[in-house]
Amino acid sequence: MITTSIDLAKQVLCNNGIIAIPTETVYGLAGNAFNESAVEKIFALKKRPHFNPLIVHIKSADSIMDVASAIPEAALLLATKFWPGPLTLLLNKKSNIPDLVTAGKPTVAVRMPNHPLTLSLLEQLDFPLAAPSANPFGSISPTSAAHVYNYFQEDLEVVLDGGECNNGVESTIIGFENNLPVLYRLGAISVEEVEAVVGKVLIHSKNDEDPAAPGMLSRHYSPNTNTYLTDDVAEFIKQYPNKKIGLLLFKDAIEDNASFHKEVLSAEGDMAEAAKNLYAALHRLDKLNLDIIIAERLPDEGLGKTINDRLQRAVEK
Ligand code: TXA
Ligand code: MG
Repeated sequence: MITTSIDLAKQVLCNNGIIAIPTETVYGLAGNAFNESAVEKIFALKKRPHFNPLIVHIKSADSIMDVASAIPEAALLLATKFWPGPLTLLLNKKSNIPDLVTAGKPTVAVRMPNHPLTLSLLEQLDFPLAAPSANPFGSISPTSAAHVYNYFQEDLEVVLDGGECNNGVESTIIGFENNLPVLYRLGAISVEEVEAVVGKVLIHSKNDEDPAAPGMLSRHYSPNTNTYLTDDVAEFIKQYPNKKIGLLLFKDAIEDNASFHKEVLSAEGDMAEAAKNLYAALHRLDKLNLDIIIAERLPDEGLGKTINDRLQRAVEK
């Protein structure tokens, strides 16, 4: 059921059950990160392959010490600047984190989320929450309680309703090599913002065979409808005169026309607003039984990079 009751949420979690939690990025499918049976339920419900590790959500920056050790100076700087917030750090794990959570890796992904409901829930628990995004593996991430409910219905006892997610795209993931920051996943904090704190960030190379961060898997965040990405929607659309078309536009530059459905991410051309609206717009278009969705590429800077990354993965075949 969809509820705002922290008590209900707590009850399920303390019995090693799993629930959906709101965060500022997307909803998560959460369970006790210290308990293997809870974590196993997350993998099963999400149909997630076991090689793909989970993010551990902590209640305060100080509790980083409960799950990680040998924390690089740059990680502390980033945590101080961006937590609570949409930044995930890959750190050496402590042994209380089951290997199941980290897919056998020596590092654990950690973040302190910025959502009042989830922070007060975490405050009342004596364990952190392991949580991937609350969508079946490979499909569009949920940014509302209704999105989560549509995916899992009564298979999920509790969907904690914290409203629409403010950021709307997943956290930025930063790991460290020789204590230097490396970007594993573009996210809600732009590379430019990260670099303003720790200087130049290396980009982790993408490799589908050995996905160090399978958020990096090429096909991901995918609608069921065939989706295309282009710089010039007006031109691209001409190739499909007889199709039922959905348009996913950044700003509105296309005249209304009865033969297509239009979603505008930000009439003002604001990237943060576009990110917030991205997944909800994709969910809506995907429900319309269209022949194709045509998405417009954003300017390749700031959050535009993150949105383009998600759109690129949505169109991979
Ligand atoms: O915003 C977010 O990060 C959301 C909310 C719920 O916190 N969570 C999220 O989780 O996006 P998920 O599981 O959908 O994506 C987590 C990504 C995956 O690509 C996973 O492979 C990567 O983090 N990851 C987790 N632990 C890792 C590790 N030790 N090394 C490399 N990548 C890791
Ligand atoms: Mg995900």
